[in-house]
Amino acid sequence: MPITPKELEWHLLTEDPNSLPWENQPILSFTITERSICLAQFEGKFFAFQALCPHAGAPLKDGYIDAKGNIVCPLHHYKFCLANGRNCTGQGYDMRAYPLEIRPDGLYIGLRK
Ligand code: FES
Repeated sequence: MPITPKELEWHLLTEDPNSLPWENQPILSFTITERSICLAQFEGKFFAFQALCPHAGAPLKDGYIDAKGNIVCPLHHYKFCLANGRNCTGQGYDMRAYPLEIRPDGLYIGLRK
């Protein structure tokens, strides 16, 4: 069931997402409100999603982003859509994707209250 806007609490993730060290790694990991999340950049947009693969818990920061904008898990290579978390290779393990908002003071992530 999709999360409604009333269920979200917004947190500042970074004041300047473009200043993060993207040159060495396309997927960065953060801990915010005791939750581990990944932040990725693809075609100029930012995406946030759960840190561990919903299949068997591999660290998604060690995966890669394919040409269609899917995160590919490093362990069994299941693919998940960056935009909505859907398991686009059909195994049925959807990934949690988090909404992001760019505001004047930085990049915010919406987490369930
Ligand atoms: S742990 Fe990610 S696909 Fe199996």
